Order: sequence, then C-alpha cells, then structure tokens
Amino acid sequence: MVDVSAGLRDLLADVALRHPSILELGCGTGALSVALLGDGAGSVTGIDLSPGSIALARRRADDAGVGERATYRIGNAALEPVERYDWVILDRSICCFPEADRLLDTALRAAPECVALSVPESRGWRGWLNALLWRAENLWDLVSGGCPGYVHDLRRIERRLAGAGLLPAHSRRIGLWFCGVYRRAS
Ligand SMILES: C[S@@+](CC[C@H](N)C(=O)[O-])C[C@H]1O[C@@H](n2cnc3c(N)ncnc32)[C@H](O)[C@@H]1O
Repeated sequence: MVDVSAGLRDLLADVALRHPSILELGCGTGALSVALLGDGAGSVTGIDLSPGSIALARRRADDAGVGERATYRIGNAALEPVERYDWVILDRSICCFPEADRLLDTALRAAPECVALSVPESRGWRGWLNALLWRAENLWDLVSGGCPGYVHDLRRIERRLAGAGLLPAHSRRIGLWFCGVYRRAS
C-alpha cells in the first residue's frame, strides 16, 4: 500500500468499532479496501475502470481470506448506480478523473455517514507546487502515452460535502497530498 493510502487508513481507525459497509470509487487493486476488511469493515464494494486492477483486487481479497465480504466490479464510478453505504472512499481516484463533481455525485448518492478521500493538495503553496508539477507530468504523459492527472479544487470539494452535511472530522498531509475524513453532523 502506498503511504497516502496508509495515511488514510490511519484516519479510519474506528473501522474496528463500526464495522461499516464501504464503497470505494476507483479502488485500483484493492490494497486499502482489503486492509480495511482486515481491520473490521463489514463489507466492501470496489469499482474501478481497469479490468486488470479489478482482477488483482479480487485475488488480493481471496488471498487475504476476506473475499466473501468483498465485491469488486469494473465500471465508471461517475455513471454507476449505487445503493446505500455507510462509508465512501475516494483514495487517489478523484485526481485521475476530469470531473470531480460526477464522482462526488455518486459518492453522495450512497448517502454515507462518512466520506474519506485523498487528493493532491490544491490550497496554499502546496497547491501552487502541485499545479506546476502535475502540469509538467501531464505534458510528459502526452508524449509517453500516460493518463492525465488533475489537481481539483479541494475547497470546492469540501463545499459540496458540507452542502450534503458532511463536515471535516480528521485530516493530515502526506507530502503534497491531503487525506481527509468527513462525517455527517449528528
Ligand atoms: C492512482 S489510482 C489509485 C488506485 C487506488 N485507489 C490506490 O490508491 O491504490 C486511480 C484509480 O482510479 C481509477 N479511476 C479513475 N477514474 C475512475 C472512474 N471514473 N471510475 C472508476 N475508476 C476510476 C483508475 O482506474 C485507477 O485505478
């Protein structure tokens, strides 16, 4: 698991008390969601665009002995119908999709009590640096055929979450990344 995902996992330590159902949008190969199942999550549904990542996530869950509580499916999280989940996680996925709002729409349709996300910091000097670095990386990706990345406006993301009743609970920075947990005000 990369250090940003590990940082987000640390912020979700109450998983052992709450046993939530979790939806992860852009789950990749399932490193965080399988770890959270091991930590006490009740169930996990992971959605990702990449068939290869989904196959690896399924294998990872089976190898860890938590496959019965894990569902991974290929799909565009911006378009997927979702049912209700306790928690929604967007770990380094908003920055891989041009339309942050559409991923947030899906997250909020799940009516979660908690949203956890990691994104490149867009505020302050880290935001300036990220804007510069990600632009340079996108130029390189144009040449090398890589996927573009996006430094979405974190203030705007937080406004959307707040509008849905999800307020900042815990956060930390890891290098130029921001990890945040937002909880529904009771
Ligand atoms: C940088 S990877 C992060 C994967 C994983 N969350 C992690 O932290 O290891 C970004 C992932 O988001 C997925 N992704 C981006 N946009 C998506 C979308 N609209 N629907 C589903 N998956 C998406 C990509 O396929 C990729 O696996």
